[in-house]
Amino acid sequence: MERLNKYLADCGVGSRRECDRLIADGVVKINGKVATLGATVSENDRVTVNDKRVGDKQKNYYLMLHKPKGCVTTVKDDLGRKTVMDLIDVKARLYPVGRLDYDTEGLLILTNDGDLANRLTHPRNEVNKTYIARISGVLAEKDRIQLEKGVIIDGVKTAPARVKILKQDQHHTRCEITIHEGRNRQVKKMFEAVGKEVEFLKRVAVGELRLGGLKRGEYRFLNEYEIEYLKTV
Ligand code: URA
Repeated sequence: MERLNKYLADCGVGSRRECDRLIADGVVKINGKVATLGATVSENDRVTVNDKRVGDKQKNYYLMLHKPKGCVTTVKDDLGRKTVMDLIDVKARLYPVGRLDYDTEGLLILTNDGDLANRLTHPRNEVNKTYIARISGVLAEKDRIQLEKGVIIDGVKTAPARVKILKQDQHHTRCEITIHEGRNRQVKKMFEAVGKEVEFLKRVAVGELRLGGLKRGEYRFLNEYEIEYLKTV
């Protein structure tokens, strides 16, 4: 159930105050009965203004999934592999914002808000994305700096990045890498460019949004502050 004035405003009828005025004027009906100020509606109610049906409100969903390895970031997979959609029980056509490789895990945003998804994935608006990467061997300081300055992948230099070594022994290096772009297999290719193989990759943050304690395969709905934040990045 939700307040009628909010419902009308979300349907684009006007501001909440303007909608209150329409309700007070007696031109809004719920299931054929004149609505009163403070009324609530549910999804199945038929709402009219001046006897014209108010367009079906499309509820927008915004959620964060901890994508596990072993599933693809598409709505459907031609090869019949498990997709991120198999993990989500929301009755709406959701789309992943950007993509993570089959063997990459971590934070993935999904929404049916096409405008937001397009904005967030447009190269002009790319937000920082932070990953934890475990790579084989030792990452030399000169290579770390090179990764930060930019390396050539697919013939084009990468934008400046941040690379912090978290832990290192002679067999592996664990780093945190923050990139701004969203090119295909970017992190793996960047390390390949300095002769290193990524053995494990997990996205832990998209802009200010962090994966936190969300478990693999689980998802949660973003709160209003997080949604507002995404709309302003
Ligand atoms: N970079 C990669 O190489 N793979 C991902 O899944 C995400 C970023």
